[in-house]
Amino acid sequence: MNDFKLTTPTQEPGLASAMQVVYQWNYDPEVDELRRLYVKAAEAQWVAERDLDWSRPIDLVKFATTPLGAGVPIEKTSYWRSLPAETTAELTKRTAAFRLSQFLHGEQGALMVAAQLVNAVPHTDAKFYAATQTMDEARHVEVFARYIEKLDHIHPIAPSLKRILDATLETGDWMKKLVGMQIVVEGLALYAFREMRNLTEEPLLKDLLTYVARDESRHHAYGVQYIERCVPCLDAAARTELEDFALECARSLIDRNAQGFFTTLLQIWTEVGVDPVEMIGSLQREAGDITRDLPKGRRLGPVQGFVIPTLRRCGLLSERVAAHFHGFLRENFGGAVVGEDVDEFLRWLPALPADTAAWVLGELQ
Ligand SMILES: [Fe+2]
Ligand SMILES: [Fe+2]
Repeated sequence: MNDFKLTTPTQEPGLASAMQVVYQWNYDPEVDELRRLYVKAAEAQWVAERDLDWSRPIDLVKFATTPLGAGVPIEKTSYWRSLPAETTAELTKRTAAFRLSQFLHGEQGALMVAAQLVNAVPHTDAKFYAATQTMDEARHVEVFARYIEKLDHIHPIAPSLKRILDATLETGDWMKKLVGMQIVVEGLALYAFREMRNLTEEPLLKDLLTYVARDESRHHAYGVQYIERCVPCLDAAARTELEDFALECARSLIDRNAQGFFTTLLQIWTEVGVDPVEMIGSLQREAGDITRDLPKGRRLGPVQGFVIPTLRRCGLLSERVAAHFHGFLRENFGGAVVGEDVDEFLRWLPALPADTAAWVLGELQ
């Protein structure tokens, strides 16, 4: 019996997109760095079924080393230490399933944006590269879905992530697609994959993230190398518009993320038997000690530590937009973290790593 259907209960109604499709009749290599990146991507293709050992059960003891990524260091509190090991292990597992689910849905967005770019970008080398990225993203969706189902279950997409994916898919401007996806979303993803891959001792997750992060470092390089070529060709109005788009994408992920993500996490933790009032109380009482115990040096978040330096490299960090970034980061994290004024904020911005793949796969500093 054929149970194939044209519509399924799990799909959303279609999202209208304003994109234009562009033919390019010059097939010669033209943007050398993008052509080289395309060749590198073709050489680095891997096969999820063949190259990862899926027969291994997830090692739940080792899985407990996976960072929570909750945005607040609850694992450093005395309340956390007072919980039985089974509870913290279950908590880590369920929190990671939620976080990995967001990675998974982001990968689906990346898959569709990369496919749009094949159609919309005007240069042949850029179309070729976007084609390899489309293949990469299909594989990323495949491996994250498979891993989460082995671990726990897939959670729905967080509204803040959905908004930025929608905005990037809906826009008719291919440069905004590159900025929204390759620079903001993939910049944040690279930062998160790097931390998770470095700290987790669960072998299958570590292997999977190693393959994915290698691909992602190329996707980020594509965005940077293409956009930095394009920006000098824009007039002032177009450049302002592109800067504002980047700012809005980053802002929606940070602002709403903080509240929305945390509320969902609290719900998940309550289900496991954690008392949220006790935990938050413990965090507030011990905040001073926890901060003192953190490694010395400034710990920049993903936006200040990676996304904004990328925008600067691409020529999209004017004084105007830097002041906006500083303002909203300061509201969220305070002047001690992001700098009291714009000058200090700019001074603290790190340079982009010379080799992104090596940075992602290297030791955390
Ligand atoms: Fe991806
Ligand atoms: Fe990607």
